[in-house]
Amino acid sequence: MAEFTLPANSIVKKGKVFTAAPDAVNVKTFLVYRYDPSTEMNPSVDSYQIDLDDCGPMILDALIKIKSEIDPGLAFRRSCREGICGSCAMNIDGANTLACTMAIEDVEGDVRVYPLPHQPVVKDLVSDLSNFYRQYEAVEPWMQTDSKPPQGRERLQSKEDREKLDGLYECIMCACCSTSGPSYWWNSDKYLGPAALLAAYRWIVDSRDEKTEERLSALDDPFKLYRCHTIMNCATVCPKGLNPAEAIADTKKMLVQRNL
Ligand code: SF4
Ligand code: FES
Repeated sequence: MAEFTLPANSIVKKGKVFTAAPDAVNVKTFLVYRYDPSTEMNPSVDSYQIDLDDCGPMILDALIKIKSEIDPGLAFRRSCREGICGSCAMNIDGANTLACTMAIEDVEGDVRVYPLPHQPVVKDLVSDLSNFYRQYEAVEPWMQTDSKPPQGRERLQSKEDREKLDGLYECIMCACCSTSGPSYWWNSDKYLGPAALLAAYRWIVDSRDEKTEERLSALDDPFKLYRCHTIMNCATVCPKGLNPAEAIADTKKMLVQRNL
């Protein structure tokens, strides 16, 4: 029987412990993954006690407090702090989400904070999303046409056709969905993943785009599209409430109808 072992330097060790001030009353512990691949050190989980009476309400507030006041070496991405840019995506309390829109009070007990799963780590909570962005680029997420716009003006769309894009265009490319799926963990070199497939579908159903056939043909592949096994993690974790699984199912249906 095959036996699998992890390399010794991949074992996550217990890290440093930072305690709260003795007079702090409302204390919560954050267990944060730390890893710097440029060193020989194993990954570790550092423990930070935070006085919630002196901290903003969101997980990101606590991370910013840790970085500003306790441990400036902690690395994580953030920008907008309001669920728009997608950069603070990470794994919190066992699920992928945005640190800026998740409230500390919604986590019972200690707060476990890890990078997005199954991606290379640049440092600490910063994942390398190069492959994720390459997959997005691969579906050519822009309008493609052969015809000229009518009378040199913009291409119009009926209200009904515009509504078909609701639930698709709102994606902020946070990668919570793709990195939550076992199919993506195992085949991310060939399976495009829910975020890229949602983007592909967004252009397939756009009435102004004239490359529907080409877009469908490009996805008609055992791995790129059909590696999705409708596990639904993507829809469960999407912080914008989108449903990539439904878009993928509709794309499969369109291919079946086209190939009849
Ligand atoms: S579909 Fe949702 S989870 Fe996936 S990248 Fe877009 S916003 Fe993030
Ligand atoms: S900081 Fe922009 S989505 Fe969280």
